[in-house]
Amino acid sequence: MSQQIFEPGKIWRDTKGVPINAHGGGLLCHEGVVYWYGEHKIEGEAGNRAHVGVHVYSSADLYNWKDEGIALRVSDEPGHDIETGCILERPKVIHNAATGKFVMWFHLEKKGCGYDTASSGVAVADQPTGPFSYVRAIRPNAGVFPLNDSPALHTPCLAEGGFTGDHPLPRLNVVESNIFRRDLEEGQMARDLNLFVDDDGKAYHIYSSEENSTLHISELDAAYLAPSGRFARLFAGRYMETAAVFKRGGYYYLIASGCTSWEPNAARCAIARNIMGPWYEMENPCRGVNPQNGFGPDKTFGAQSTYVHKLHGRDDAFIAMFDIWNPDNAIDGRYVWLPVTFEDDHGFLIHWRDTWDLSVFE
Ligand code: GAL
Repeated sequence: MSQQIFEPGKIWRDTKGVPINAHGGGLLCHEGVVYWYGEHKIEGEAGNRAHVGVHVYSSADLYNWKDEGIALRVSDEPGHDIETGCILERPKVIHNAATGKFVMWFHLEKKGCGYDTASSGVAVADQPTGPFSYVRAIRPNAGVFPLNDSPALHTPCLAEGGFTGDHPLPRLNVVESNIFRRDLEEGQMARDLNLFVDDDGKAYHIYSSEENSTLHISELDAAYLAPSGRFARLFAGRYMETAAVFKRGGYYYLIASGCTSWEPNAARCAIARNIMGPWYEMENPCRGVNPQNGFGPDKTFGAQSTYVHKLHGRDDAFIAMFDIWNPDNAIDGRYVWLPVTFEDDHGFLIHWRDTWDLSVFE
């Protein structure tokens, strides 16, 4: 039976009745069809690592999703970057009009290395449903200073030699110690990531860097396969994760979370005239309470942002997408999709709704 409503936090079934398995996901609209890419998770705590790959679904109406299978499959080859058991999170796909390719970026941690790899994986396909072929993993912007460079970034890293992933520095010291400089030669850390394609076709890779302390917005090259070398450091020391960028009326917006692993925290949001900044942080956009868990704005309804989808052909209709994580039984993570409403002062709000449909945008 077809569905005509969104029910945030409730089990969401595909057109065959199977719960949708596409966590930390993002959407791509191509030729009138919307594709939903996300992490395929398995049951139990093991589901926090990748055993299958990136799942893709398709929809014409955003309510009803057809299972299109596994877009990118993990490898059973020992030592492969995306070997079964690696951590492969937050896949996002964009279409490159010039090359005709579909390009996927995801957060990649090599098998058995915890979260120390801190790299972005890239894969490409000729069709939106794949199969995607793995290209490589990168630490972005090796050897490059940001557009908003400062003399402090050129000083030696104070933590050099004394820093290991097992003994993290106190949070503030990560910034003061100039972790950026530590990673300059090898490339910057990139954990939670997102992609954004601007009206001029330029694409951007947004990632949590410098031990998660600082966001980077990094322009991609024309093929969307590598950084162009133009990037900015944003919100140093604010520990923002899962930043999702969207654009409305000449303003760039982002929504993000704080950094508390699978636990929810208060959402962050910001606005800019230029995607490379300056960005201005605004107040928490969330309002209301999720009655399923009692969580309100200070815990983002128990969820964490993953993507903001602009409705095809609409200038002002955006859906903010979140995940409610369940690290003990990863497959049972839930999806929270809510409409974004804009305020007169250019701010935006996200109100909890038990149920809603696309008529809210009319
Ligand atoms: C979250 C992040 C998730 C996952 C998790 C692991 O903060 O957004 O994608 O990496 O941490 O602890």
